[in-house]
Amino acid sequence: MLSAIDHVGVAVESIDAALAVYRDTLGMELVHRETVAEQGVDAALLDVGDSHIELLEALGPDTAVGRFLSRRGAGLHHIAYRVQSIDETLATLATAGVRLIDERPRVGIRGSRVAFLHPAATGGVLTEIVQPAEEHQTR
Ligand code: CO
Repeated sequence: MLSAIDHVGVAVESIDAALAVYRDTLGMELVHRETVAEQGVDAALLDVGDSHIELLEALGPDTAVGRFLSRRGAGLHHIAYRVQSIDETLATLATAGVRLIDERPRVGIRGSRVAFLHPAATGGVLTEIVQPAEEHQTR
C-alpha cells in the first residue's frame, strides 16, 4: 500500500535560514517552493535520492505549524508515505478503523493529493500519505 517514504516534514522558523544548511551545505537540490495559504505554510521541497525533505515555515503563529513551533520548537514534524491511490488507501484505513485527521484528501504541494493520519494511530508520529501528481510519480 505504501511504496516509499515520499518526504519527511521539518518545521523551521525560517526556510531561507534552513536552505543555507539543507541546500547550500548538505547539497540537496531545491526542487519546489510553494505557499499554501489555506494551510498557513510556506513549503520548500528538496531532493534527497528518491525522497524529499519538506521544510515548513508558518505563515503566522495561529496556524498548525505556528502552534507546533511555539509548543515544541523547530524539528521533525511529520513523515509522509507515497501511495498510488490515496482514495483506496484512505478507504482501507477507514475500514480498518485507523484514526484519521483527513477523511478526504486535500491538495498538497506540487499538485499532490495528501491526507494526514492521527498521530495517536501511528505511535505518536504525525503521518501523511501522499499521491504525487502524475508527472512526479516515480514509482
Ligand atoms: Co508533508
